[in-house]
Amino acid sequence: MDSFKVTGLAGKAELHGEVGIAGAKNAALPIMAASLLVEGEVQLANVPDIADVRSMVGLIEALGGFTTFMGDTLSIRPKEAGGTVIDAEIGKRMRASILLVAAVLAKQGSVTFPHPGGCVLGSRPIDVFVEGFAALGATFTETAETYTLSAPKGLSGGEIFFRVMSVTGTEALMIAATRAAGPVTLHNCAMEPEVVATAEFLKACGARIEGAGSPTITVAPARLQAPISNFQIIPDRIEAGSFLILGALAGKGITVKGADPSHLGAVIETLRDMGVTVDVRHDLISVSRPAVLRAAEVRTHEYPGFPTDLQAPMAVLLTQAVGESAVSETVFDGRLNYVAELARMGADMTVVNPHKAIIKGPMPLKGRDIMGPDIRAGLAFILAAAIAEGESTIGNAHLIDRGYEKIEQKLSALGLKIKRVSA
Ligand code: EPU
Repeated sequence: MDSFKVTGLAGKAELHGEVGIAGAKNAALPIMAASLLVEGEVQLANVPDIADVRSMVGLIEALGGFTTFMGDTLSIRPKEAGGTVIDAEIGKRMRASILLVAAVLAKQGSVTFPHPGGCVLGSRPIDVFVEGFAALGATFTETAETYTLSAPKGLSGGEIFFRVMSVTGTEALMIAATRAAGPVTLHNCAMEPEVVATAEFLKACGARIEGAGSPTITVAPARLQAPISNFQIIPDRIEAGSFLILGALAGKGITVKGADPSHLGAVIETLRDMGVTVDVRHDLISVSRPAVLRAAEVRTHEYPGFPTDLQAPMAVLLTQAVGESAVSETVFDGRLNYVAELARMGADMTVVNPHKAIIKGPMPLKGRDIMGPDIRAGLAFILAAAIAEGESTIGNAHLIDRGYEKIEQKLSALGLKIKRVSA
């Protein structure tokens, strides 16, 4: 198991330079899954070279699809009548495998899959998916190890009201609906840019989708056809936000290049509220550490609110702000699972209830050996290590590799002393 060794800057703002943002993991994954429904070859550009994308490639190939990677371009040619069983080993490790469940069910009329795993962020149920597919006529059965959804005569049109706003739930049902026999209306949809990107991809293939990015999406039956060449994956707003937070913590001029500032409104406004000057010019966003960081109350929310995936990195920034700050996690149970480790580094952070923590600052952080519990908290620990005094070792590098491309190269180029250590 790899880990990262980071030599901290002891609070000095010395990181400098430009960092390029990769394609969005959470847009690439649903679009890759949706490719299974397209006749012919799909070519996706700006695909991030990260472990989750490779896992999705593995799942598609296990179903009989062909894939090739050339630089950041990924070609997918699905098999006409592919398999109906999602590889259990990979599926269990990655929650996004549920997106492939949607495509296989819609295409083959049946799909068997393990409980989709992924980061431990609380219970992460699949009721929203099961209810959605049932509303389109699928039946659901389970054994101790697997779930099966089947609709041998194909999915029907229908109306779905999501009780919970779910990003992958919206994407999965929108993908499946393109093959339904009649029109499908989805209510209380997630409005994340990745939902819109998935709809744009499906539309480029011929789908008739309206309303993506709003609470109501309608999908009318259509045939999805390639060739689709050079379909661009949108930039990763979470990677971009992570580097902006790093710039506010330890930057002497960090410029994030290739991001879409319109996807980062809540993050940029929070940084400004804390006293950070954020300079936005087209796809370039520059930040530096201000003389004083002001305390803030940060509350995660579905898009366009503050993203839950940046809650832990933002908490690290709040440890350096003057006064009392708070983070409230409203999207997931169990996403304050990193607090004890951050407190071991010297943060004054108290969990007041499972959804809220209070942070008092500024507190100098000390280098420690710590283990990231998930992709985003792992990245937050790298940020904490970057400003700490002394050396830190961040274990579970494989979790960080799931979502961040060439992270140690990008951070080294900004001047951080970081190296990967293989056990
Ligand atoms: N929920 C249910 N039932 C369901 C599905 C979800 O109760 O059947 C609940 C969840 O437990 C959670 C809430 O709904 O409390 C919202 O979860 P959502 O379904 O939106 O999350 P997701 O689709 O599983 C995606 C991202 C996550 C990101 C969340 C929220 C992908 C592949 N994953 O997850 O990204 O945190 O939306 O924005 O798009 C990450 O990239 O590290 C990551 C965890």
